[in-house]
Amino acid sequence: MIKKCLFPVAGYGTRFLPATKAMPKEMLPIVDKPLVQYAVEEAAEAGLSDLGFVTGRGKRAIEDHFDVNYEMEHQIEGTGKESALEGIRSLIDNCSFSYTRQINMNGLGDAILKGETLIGDEAFGVVLADDLCIGEGVGVLAQMVGLYRQYRCSILAIEEVPHDQTSSYGVIDGEKISDNLMRVTNMVEKPDPKDAPTNLAIIGRYILTPDIFDIIRGTPPGKNGEVQITDALLSQAQSGCVMAYKFKGQRFDCGSVEGFVDATNYYYEKVYNRNR
Ligand code: G1P
Repeated sequence: MIKKCLFPVAGYGTRFLPATKAMPKEMLPIVDKPLVQYAVEEAAEAGLSDLGFVTGRGKRAIEDHFDVNYEMEHQIEGTGKESALEGIRSLIDNCSFSYTRQINMNGLGDAILKGETLIGDEAFGVVLADDLCIGEGVGVLAQMVGLYRQYRCSILAIEEVPHDQTSSYGVIDGEKISDNLMRVTNMVEKPDPKDAPTNLAIIGRYILTPDIFDIIRGTPPGKNGEVQITDALLSQAQSGCVMAYKFKGQRFDCGSVEGFVDATNYYYEKVYNRNR
């Protein structure tokens, strides 16, 4: 079964400057919880407890978040504030956390390849914390793990986006297997709307088989001169099989200010306010 999950968290988050000047964008909170914790919770819910982070300079706060803070925890011991740390404590107790660095920002494909040292030779999940997903019933990654059991190949999550937004995403085309599932035949990274094969956009959830590492090594730089996971997955789809899954649930693009505000409003109304 899949036990490992990779979190590429080296990106700068320039869209949130100055907030992200000295703080990782993954630590920005949606109400009272940082984005990266939502991502880790989704992986843990899917049964993935071996968690690897591809970090970079200025990302130390992520490591500290998934660790104890003795002084502060001692201070709030026995007070009502203790319960606020229950969620993060349970993650720390039940998961292992490993870190490696991406030295140069050379694209998502390169970031995933840097994670090879944490993953080894087994299938693994990839979660981009920018995409905050609320699964219907179960989380999106858990839905995909279920599909992996059946198909044993790489799986990526997709959703329909407005045609004029294709240049923000990897876009796929494929043969329909069922209502929610396609076998990928084509993929393009961030195409202009006029060149996009469809409006089916890849969102930041993947299950990858470990042959992807060799494929990435053989993948030349693509869009923006960076090594793109989309290009590597197209090779994998052409020589083997890649599935695209229209997940059940909702996604917020927290890499954009608008999506971040929408996610904040959603959580405030649906989760935070209700639990008080
Ligand atoms: C990355 C991928 C892209 C995918 C997107 C999902 O782009 O390269 O294919 O659609 O994540 O969020 P980024 O948003 O990191 O530029």
